[in-house]
Amino acid sequence: MSSKADAPLFAVQNLSVRFGGFQALKEMSWSVRAGEILGIIGPNGAGKSTCFMAATNMVSHGGSLQLDGRDVTRAPAHHLPRAGLRRTFQQNAFFGGMTVLENMAGALLENRPSRLAQSVLAPWAESRKRRGIEAEARRHLLNYHVPEAVHHRLPGELSYGTQRMLSIALAAAPGARVVLLDEPAAGLGGPDMITLRGLLERMRAEGFAVVLIEHHMDLLMSIADEVVVLELGQVIAAGKPAEIQADPRVLEAYLGRAA
Ligand SMILES: Nc1ncnc2c1ncn2[C@@H]1O[C@H](COP(=O)(O)OP(=O)(O)O)[C@@H](O)[C@H]1O
Ligand SMILES: [Mg+2]
Repeated sequence: MSSKADAPLFAVQNLSVRFGGFQALKEMSWSVRAGEILGIIGPNGAGKSTCFMAATNMVSHGGSLQLDGRDVTRAPAHHLPRAGLRRTFQQNAFFGGMTVLENMAGALLENRPSRLAQSVLAPWAESRKRRGIEAEARRHLLNYHVPEAVHHRLPGELSYGTQRMLSIALAAAPGARVVLLDEPAAGLGGPDMITLRGLLERMRAEGFAVVLIEHHMDLLMSIADEVVVLELGQVIAAGKPAEIQADPRVLEAYLGRAA
């Protein structure tokens, strides 16, 4: 997908976040390439979700963000999806009053420049475009295991597992290149876990840069290319999954307790 195969597609450097007097994140750095899955683990409260908030400019932070070689440290949060950076939330977040298909069509439109003038001058072109977007939304949802039968339902009516797939489908809308997933496996049963693993593998094969926060060690350690371990807002280890699993600091700080 990227011509500079070795260069990171997305890199955060020295990210720091304070909530009042509390330092939730301290100088965290990581990067991810196209076609790579970076895993982030750490105990509850370590600052994992905060690092996604900082990485998407949803909270004020120290440090810098580079997206495809461009400094986006000061880019407004709502510009980043169009620049190719999207995320899911730990809690599913949808437009609850819109159908699944409308949510998906909205995400597709969000990744594109809108042409207000065109819609005013040529309504017929606009409606043709809308039908095109709907067809694309339908295809994309099916591709992400959100079945046709629920496309006209409200997101809140879907099973929990299907809601998780919908949030990934929204984040991975065409135009996205870097996708940040915050505990996508949380609450999933066995069959949905298998579906999720397949999706993640496919996303990597398609050239997405994926950053995965996950508590499910089996899933994360078997799928991540690189792993970063966070504790009390600081990186305590980073490396290949096998290195992380053998790191005594990690075993003590996290894996030992979690096992
Ligand atoms: N908006 C906020 N205001 C104040 N403290 C926060 C806020 N968001 C998170 N925190 C605190 O920051 C720490 C890290 O939280 P979080 O990033 O959600 O951890 P994790 O995702 O690793 O479980 C926690 O101690 C949490 O209570
Ligand atoms: Mg979290």
